[in-house]
Amino acid sequence: MKVDLYERIWMWSVGLMLTALFVSLALGALRADHHPPSHVETIDPRGVLTDARFRTQGVRLDAEGRIHVWVVGLMFTWLPAEVTIPADTPVTFHLTSVDVTHGYQIVRTNGQTMLLPGYVSQFTTQFAPGEYLVACNEYCGLNHHGMAGRLHVVPRAEWTPPAGQAPAQPTSAASATGPTGEVRHAGH
Ligand code: CUA
Repeated sequence: MKVDLYERIWMWSVGLMLTALFVSLALGALRADHHPPSHVETIDPRGVLTDARFRTQGVRLDAEGRIHVWVVGLMFTWLPAEVTIPADTPVTFHLTSVDVTHGYQIVRTNGQTMLLPGYVSQFTTQFAPGEYLVACNEYCGLNHHGMAGRLHVVPRAEWTPPAGQAPAQPTSAASATGPTGEVRHAGH
């Protein structure tokens, strides 16, 4: 079969592009710990702020002492906008939106997920000490660019759990919504 020279050039270019994209995807997954948030958990978007999981936002410890951060996204802020966590410690983020799609991106880290009304997104990762910008990376309206927060990551010895935050992994609400309600640690 005769294939025109230009067509052959295009076929090889497309092949190379696909290979390059696949290799970058594989490297991102295997070396940089990029994973899709696979935990399917639902929530009534109209009742987020009265839901046991999100009634108080921010850092909470579970019964085993693991650290969880509960974040609500809304036009145009994060609740809470500032989070302080210890360095080099796995932290599980749980996020949902009360209005439209937002994107929680902890800039220059692998901590990032989309927030969809009706779903609780989740990821677990850890950070080197430092100050991180939290940007919204899904266009959500006129002040999308102003939807920013801060993540403070302090050395482990300097971190104390927030006052009054007794172990509070809500079990009743979680079991009613997700297929399992359990906390999974993705990517580690
Ligand atoms: Cu929220 Cu863009």
